[in-house]
Amino acid sequence: MAETVNFAVIGVGVPNQNLGGHSVYNGIGEVHGHYLGETAGARLAACCDINADNGRAYAAKYGCEYFQSYDEMLAQDDIHAVSVCTPSGLHGRHALQAIRAGKHVIVEKPLDITLRGVDATLAEVERAGVRAVVVFPTRYYKGFSAVKAALDTGRFGTPAVINAISRRYRDDIYYRGWRGTWTMDGGGACMNQGVHMIDAVTWLLPDIDTVQARFDTLGHNRDLCQVEDTCVATLKFRRGTLGVIECTTCAYNDHGDRIDLHAMKGSASISGSTVTAWEMRDEPDFAFRPEDYEERHEEFTGHRLLYNEVVPYFRDGAPCRCEIHSGRPAIALIEAIYASAREGGKLVHPDV
Ligand SMILES: NC(=O)c1ccc[n+]([C@@H]2O[C@H](COP(=O)([O-])OP(=O)(O)OC[C@H]3O[C@@H](n4cnc5c(N)ncnc54)[C@H](O)[C@@H]3O)[C@@H](O)[C@H]2O)c1
Repeated sequence: MAETVNFAVIGVGVPNQNLGGHSVYNGIGEVHGHYLGETAGARLAACCDINADNGRAYAAKYGCEYFQSYDEMLAQDDIHAVSVCTPSGLHGRHALQAIRAGKHVIVEKPLDITLRGVDATLAEVERAGVRAVVVFPTRYYKGFSAVKAALDTGRFGTPAVINAISRRYRDDIYYRGWRGTWTMDGGGACMNQGVHMIDAVTWLLPDIDTVQARFDTLGHNRDLCQVEDTCVATLKFRRGTLGVIECTTCAYNDHGDRIDLHAMKGSASISGSTVTAWEMRDEPDFAFRPEDYEERHEEFTGHRLLYNEVVPYFRDGAPCRCEIHSGRPAIALIEAIYASAREGGKLVHPDV
């Protein structure tokens, strides 16, 4: 493969949206455009969007070629990889088209809005022999990686309990358009916002056995927000650990994401990208220094770190912690959460 990986973005983002907080970006397609410009060995060659005005404005801003036709863009031999940044319900379709055209792909979260869709994409990746990635930026935070490494090597011992919390705030206006619909968003507080924390649970503790959940739409106009805006799920893991997942978009004025882990030999808490507490029972020399885990102060740090890893992965097959198969458990767990909640809290075994 060429030294430089030429990327194309599909779904450039809609300007001036209310995305639940100040952002310098117009949708996630812009985040990809921005960080592709910062990544060694990567070049943003093209973009595609059904909205020609937004597509052309993006092409001018990031110095790439605009295509209104996705097929035409995929027919370009000098495009090696496609970043799929369209609404969640279109991820599967756009990923499949790119894979069938022989491109490597990056798929924004959620990988797909159904497990069936996820499995179709994974099968096509295998068939076509391309490389593919799902976007879970949390996995790239230094503190999160350090906690995972300590868990994986047994330093924490057996976890007693994990709490994963996504307390976000979105107003009714946010839910105009594709967001808040089952067909295009695939769900609400879990599938859209909480998917990061739900992925974090499956990434840290993969041995989930059962889930019981309740959800409701409590703080939004149901004509706009047809999906859940609040959900609580309890988990039981095969090794005995218990867990709680809480996702809401009613937490005024946005309280962010949080993980608390309490295990037999230690505890850790992560708030956003920052480790806020870390104690080890049997390691007298262990000193928690928050500064060791600080990230560069910027929006979407994880996307920058992800692209740094993805380029060598696409080019040479170097290791990548967001290899596409790893995006499956989060969707399996969300599907089980929804199945349980729809049955009033029935016990469900997720197909993780
Ligand atoms: N990883 C993260 O932190 C993160 C953050 C925000 C959004 N996302 C994900 O990114 C995706 C997009 O979210 P967004 O907020 O940027 O949405 P958005 O609505 O701002 O952007 C979607 C873009 O896709 C375009 N589009 C729609 N249908 C199309 C089609 N058929 N062909 C070509 N273009 C089409 C739209 O015109 C729009 O420009 C969602 O799946 C969302 O979950 C991820």
